[in-house]
Amino acid sequence: MKGLILSGGKGTRLRPLTFTQSKQLVPVANKPVLFYGIEALVEAGIRDIGIIVGDTREEIQGAVGDGSRFGPEVRVTYIDQPEPLGLAHAVLTAEPFLGREPFVMYLGDNILKSGVSSLVEEFVRRKPNALILLTEVPNPRMFGVAELSGGRVVRLVEKPKEPKSNLALVGVYLFDHNIFRAAKAIKPSWRNELEITDAIQYLVENGFEVQPHLVTGWWKDTGKIEDILEANRLILESLEGRVEGDVDADSRVSGAVVLERGVVVRSSTIRGPAIIGRDTEIVESYIGPFTAIQSGCRIVRTEIEHSIVLEGSEILDIGSRVDESLIGRGVRIYKCPPKPSVYRFVVGDKGEIGIK
Ligand code: TTP
Repeated sequence: MKGLILSGGKGTRLRPLTFTQSKQLVPVANKPVLFYGIEALVEAGIRDIGIIVGDTREEIQGAVGDGSRFGPEVRVTYIDQPEPLGLAHAVLTAEPFLGREPFVMYLGDNILKSGVSSLVEEFVRRKPNALILLTEVPNPRMFGVAELSGGRVVRLVEKPKEPKSNLALVGVYLFDHNIFRAAKAIKPSWRNELEITDAIQYLVENGFEVQPHLVTGWWKDTGKIEDILEANRLILESLEGRVEGDVDADSRVSGAVVLERGVVVRSSTIRGPAIIGRDTEIVESYIGPFTAIQSGCRIVRTEIEHSIVLEGSEILDIGSRVDESLIGRGVRIYKCPPKPSVYRFVVGDKGEIGIK
């Protein structure tokens, strides 16, 4: 069994972060989203992993390397997709790498709580041509949706206007080599992409065995900002505390809190679950639950919770509480002098600022 992780794409819905960073490397609980997928494959015993890349190649390769950091026998092969022409197009691009072996296809911006080990076992045991993961969602119009009958998949539709079920396709699929034949047979959709839903539909219509698997535990597609904050919350829920930083006697740290090496906490309260990256300074501040602050940041006289702060950013003297925020890299947020009464902004394209 091989692994195929899709990490090309444009990430338009995650701008402005994705102007300067691949969306698969945006950190959730201080770890790139993509790493959760790689770890899930490795945990399921998969050692040979292909990663689809596009413009993202240099950055993804820089972060993941040859794969050895994920285990001594793990090998990562980078596969260039010249243009992000759809998930089924990505599968076709990977055909030389995958050959005749069955594989797990994992969308690089997805996190699946339960991992993929049991799915791999199920696929090996029952040998269908495809195993697709489904989960109940309140808004099926936003997803690829499956229609089941008698426990079998009978139809798949991408973002249906009138959904026939509330079962959405989760971004993890298991296929044998027949998926190549399906991907070659289908035509691009209205958005000019080769859709994986159409390829699976082809399998269903041509007598191949497509089995559904209902996901237990949560699944998150981190394609949008609010989903990243939610994934951050879900991952931090099972955080185990570890304090390697320096906390002075005037500070209080409670709940599951990770303070990496070099973290300095002065006259502050940190209430977990929260994770603070290397060499970050927290001074006279309150860090509330579900907050992830990366390395080299400075938080001074500020209250913040339910938020993510990326590397090297500073938040200084903010009077009110910062909540549900995603702050990029090297950002500075500070208080202006009281006179004249002004706001001062230097914000990149597609930024978003809420003031009271
Ligand atoms: P999507 O979120 O469907 O697409 P996108 O990256 O273009 O995002 P947006 O809609 O915000 O512009 O992609 C899911 C995953 O698959 C993501 O990790 C990118 C990857 N992908 C490819 O590798 N190749 C492709 O052709 C497409 C469409 C996506």
